[in-house]
Amino acid sequence: MPFSDYRTALVTGASSGIGAAVVERLAREGLEVHALARSEKALRALAERTGCIAHAIDVTDLAAVTALTKKHAFDVLVNNAGVDKPRGLLKAEADDIDLLVDVNLRAVLHLCRLVVPGMVARDRGHVVNISSIAGAYNFGGNSTYHATKAAVSMLSRQLRIDAFGKRVRITEVCPGRVATDIFAHVHGDSAETHERFVKGFELPQAADIAEAIAFAIAAPVAVNVGHIEITPTLQVPGGLQTTRPADAPSKA
Ligand SMILES: NC(=O)c1ccc[n+]([C@@H]2O[C@H](COP(=O)([O-])OP(=O)(O)OC[C@H]3O[C@@H](n4cnc5c(N)ncnc54)[C@H](OP(=O)(O)O)[C@@H]3O)[C@@H](O)[C@H]2O)c1
Repeated sequence: MPFSDYRTALVTGASSGIGAAVVERLAREGLEVHALARSEKALRALAERTGCIAHAIDVTDLAAVTALTKKHAFDVLVNNAGVDKPRGLLKAEADDIDLLVDVNLRAVLHLCRLVVPGMVARDRGHVVNISSIAGAYNFGGNSTYHATKAAVSMLSRQLRIDAFGKRVRITEVCPGRVATDIFAHVHGDSAETHERFVKGFELPQAADIAEAIAFAIAAPVAVNVGHIEITPTLQVPGGLQTTRPADAPSKA
């Protein structure tokens, strides 16, 4: 059983939402779970609740992340830390683009570079990358976020080729809207934000995503669950927009 073969896990973005739920779920399986995020206080509370080992580290701090991965041999890596900024590309600040690339993509690439070779050498390991439906479909949103998540999606497929021949499994989990604090983190913690994104919607909870991840990890080691898309039942991507140019002659 893979869960009993796997002994250690590293979960990034563990201080809230999906990451915290994944820590909780993996700890329940008896894994030694290392929880990484910046918020020391939230991590401390999570450690008290789950027994996880907290690392108050910025995932973009390459020296700190490198030191952590040199110290522990992780059997499971969950690349979950992610950020978004509300403005679309035409109004984006340079720093916002850099932040999204650094957290959502660069850190994921570095963590895979640092952790996957050890998995390959041990012939055992599982990488779970959290992308987004924003990486698979185009819809109104922040194009930089879409681009970073599309890159994570392709990386997940490509990693399978890099690790080919060894029992290293790669799973991309692609959520639609999930009821977490991400909306408060991106748009501000207000009643309007809650009303716009959460209130009255029937949404998957962070624990539902953690359960899907547990399913992929608990599958027999001969089984690689490559891609899981999870959306609310009452959410569907797609749509087509067609418009006349602003200076088109009137139809009259
Ligand atoms: N909720 C959704 O609707 C949804 C949909 C699709 C995809 N996703 C993806 O799912 C993942 C988890 O999102 P969530 O909904 O659980 O959001 P969340 O509640 O905002 O959690 C984001 C996590 O990332 C961590 N993080 C952010 N910047 C970091 C940094 N520089 N270093 C280390 N950790 C950092 C945050 O911790 P600190 O602030 O303490 O560092 C937090 O633990 C993200 O990748 C997100 O893009 C979410």
